[in-house]
Amino acid sequence: MKKITKAVFPVAGMGSRFLPATKASPKEMMPVVDKPLIQYAVEEAVAAGITDMVFITGRNKRAIEDHFDKAYEIESELEARGKRDLLKLVQETVPDHINCIYIRQAEPLGLGHAVLCAAPVIGDEPFAVLLADDLIDADPPVLRQMVDVFEQQACSLLGVQNVPPSDTGSYGIVSTEPGPGGLPNITAIVEKPVPEKAPSNLAVIGRYVLTPRIFHHLRKIQAGAGGEIQLTDAIAALIAYESVLAFPFHGIRYDCGSKLGYLKATIAFGRKHPEVGRAFTEYLASLNVGGRA
Ligand code: UTP
Repeated sequence: MKKITKAVFPVAGMGSRFLPATKASPKEMMPVVDKPLIQYAVEEAVAAGITDMVFITGRNKRAIEDHFDKAYEIESELEARGKRDLLKLVQETVPDHINCIYIRQAEPLGLGHAVLCAAPVIGDEPFAVLLADDLIDADPPVLRQMVDVFEQQACSLLGVQNVPPSDTGSYGIVSTEPGPGGLPNITAIVEKPVPEKAPSNLAVIGRYVLTPRIFHHLRKIQAGAGGEIQLTDAIAALIAYESVLAFPFHGIRYDCGSKLGYLKATIAFGRKHPEVGRAFTEYLASLNVGGRA
């Protein structure tokens, strides 16, 4: 099996839960402290050895392209003012050896459709998918953990986490049986089941390693839950042909696609930020809301 060198970042969703913040820019550009969500995700992919970042963009694509592009004006201004630290920060948004590729999803037809848009660039190789609104604090980073497992198991892997039974309607939910390497083997997957119909409370979160056969199934499936082309439905078809393992990662996940999750991430990352962490923690303590680091 080939090595994983490409990652897909679907960033063409509506982001309706964050309107009006997402009216003119993608939700993946929302910052947690001082970095946009998409940059955390790209840094995670770099740490996993990925070199080709494939962004599936929508109507608000410019902000993301600009973020990962060279910023001549800002750089010369910072240079002129002698602000070396900030200059370094701006220049290191993405390392030199990384390629950024942008593909336009003309209409937000669903996550599965967004991933299918990457097919011409991915070709016949395994690849990663990262949903930047799932911000995961982990060491080693979750995609690194998954790529290491892929190198042993050579099959698709889905990041999973137990969620409260009442929340199954927000996720793809899997049923599993014991599989190779101590990992659960996925026997079924269903998108957004109501709690009474959910086969478990093991939910797929926004980290995937997929074999290229997924494209074959994405081309064949019809619109599913919510009228969208669902990645979950293509994975359901894939498991009839190949094993797909669940990967219960080590780390804390923040659902930054929801307001509450985003606020939790801001507090967690704010508390340990090298510049403001201590003062912020003291401030939280002064509010009597639990300021311990
Ligand atoms: P979500 O289900 O979170 O939808 O998409 P959304 O539109 O971004 O947000 P809400 O629910 O309206 O608030 C999961 C991921 O899939 C991408 C999104 O950008 C997000 O990263 N996506 C979704 C696409 O790229 N294209 C689509 O057609 C749908």
